[in-house]
This record gives sequence, C-alpha cells and structure tokens, in this order.
Amino acid sequence: MGKIIAVFNQKGGVGKTTTAVNLSACLSLKDKKVLLVDLDPQGNASSGLGIQRNQLEASIYELMFSEGEPPEGTILSTPLPGLDVLPSTADLAGAEVELVNLPRREYLLKDALADCSKDYDFVFIDCPPTLGLLSVNALTAADSVLIPIQCEYYALEGVSELLRTIDLVRASTNPDLEIQGIVLSMYDGRTNLSIQVVEEVKKYFRDKVYTSIIPRNIRLAEAPSYGLPAILYDPRSRGADAYMQLADEFVEMEEYR
Ligand SMILES: Nc1ncnc2c1ncn2[C@@H]1O[C@H](COP(=O)(O)OP(=O)(O)O)[C@@H](O)[C@H]1O
Ligand SMILES: [Mg+2]
Repeated sequence: MGKIIAVFNQKGGVGKTTTAVNLSACLSLKDKKVLLVDLDPQGNASSGLGIQRNQLEASIYELMFSEGEPPEGTILSTPLPGLDVLPSTADLAGAEVELVNLPRREYLLKDALADCSKDYDFVFIDCPPTLGLLSVNALTAADSVLIPIQCEYYALEGVSELLRTIDLVRASTNPDLEIQGIVLSMYDGRTNLSIQVVEEVKKYFRDKVYTSIIPRNIRLAEAPSYGLPAILYDPRSRGADAYMQLADEFVEMEEYR
C-alpha cells in the first residue's frame, strides 16, 4: 500500500500546490511511483502538470461520488514517467455541499483511493485552502499530513486552528493520523523576517521541520504556466534544487522511521 500524505494548511497561498507538485515530481525522479491527487476545485495542481481541465471525462469528483470501478482514464500520466495525477474539475466546488447529507461523508476519498493507492509508493493529496468536508476527507484518507508554512508575517497564525483540526480528525475518523513534517516555503534569506520565522517555526515544531527550506524563486512561480514541475522547466534553478533536496530528506526520513 502506498503511503497517503495530505498537503494541508487552511491558509491559501502558502505553497501547498507548489510543494505537492514539485515534491511529487522530484520523488518520481528518485524512482518512486507517485500519485498526485488534486482535491482543490481550483485545480492548480492539475493545470500545473499540463492537464487541460476542460477536456476531462472523469476526475476525482466522479471517483468519490460514483460507486464501483473508476472510469478508464481517470488517472492521467504526466511528463514524468513515475508521476501520475488524479485531476480535479470545477465539479468539485459543489462537493462541499453535496457531501453534507451523505452517509460516510468523511470517508469518500478514503474509499476512492483504497484501490488505486496500492500501485504507488506515495500518494499526495493537494488540499483546498479550507477547513471543510473536502479537507476532512483528505485528512481521513491520509496516513500523515505535510504542512507548508510560508516565511511571512503571521506565519504561525492559523497554526493552532490547523492543529486543532488534526486533533479533531484523530478523535473521530482517523486516530492514526501523523504529522509527516513542516516545509518552510518562500524563504528570503535577505530579510530578518524570514530568518525569524524559521526560528519561530522550529521552536514550535522542533524536529518535524525539514532542514531543506524552499526559497522564494521566480522559476517555481513560472513553471505551472508551462504545465511543468520546476525540475523539468528549469532543472538548474534554486527552486528545483530545493525541492530535490527536500525529496532526498523526505526519503531519508521515511527509511529512518
Ligand atoms: N517558493 C516560491 N517562490 C516563488 N513563488 C512561489 C513559491 N511557492 C509558491 N509560489 C507562488 O505563490 C503562489 C501561491 O502558491 P501555491 O503553491 O499555489 O499555494 P497554495 O496551494 O497554498 O494556495 C503561487 O502563485 C505560486 O506560484
Ligand atoms: Mg493550492
């Protein structure tokens, strides 16, 4: 069974999608089989990997809401042979409401992934920036949570709410949910602010914080518009290099567990 990891932080714009896409891509270059599940109705992870969202016949939405076998072709390949994607479409925007009255409403994603996760070493779920039922589905399906934190003012704002959500999920649908690690993102070494945020986050999360810190790097922001992870768009960029190092550290810590 592949390990399922939710990339989660209810704050928007902290680097969830960038981390989900680039870490997945770098792991696939380390001979890991990776599935990236796009659970955000905005679909940035899908489009960032070159998927034309308006041409899709099926998506994570159909997989969650229909019984039985997923339609052929729901899981798509990417420019990287070891990386597949389960894309999202705009339908997913309605899911939050549609889920409310369903039985097992927290477990739909878990059920949907039960079958396909066995073909992969790692399954990453790119969560929406909300604390609603989609995120609860992700945290219920996941073995662990990877939390990106942006090196910005109020970096730790919202973190206690985030941890409370994790505790609530542990108390209800997923007692074994672990924290995989904290990824510091958009670091700017020229500013005292970034340096302070790193100190603060390390004080709070201690050895859960990866030593590979992701710098603010324009290539990481440009790559999605070419439908490519940074490691293919500009392999020599600092952003690509940082995610490659994070992948190294990620694998090392997994083997050490
Ligand atoms: N390390 C980085 N350097 C520069 N831009 C970044 C970096 N990480 C993310 N971005 C950009 O910041 C914006 C928000 O990042 P994103 O990963 O989409 O956050 P989230 O998924 O948490 O909303 C995007 O435009 C993205 O391209
Ligand atoms: Mg996102």
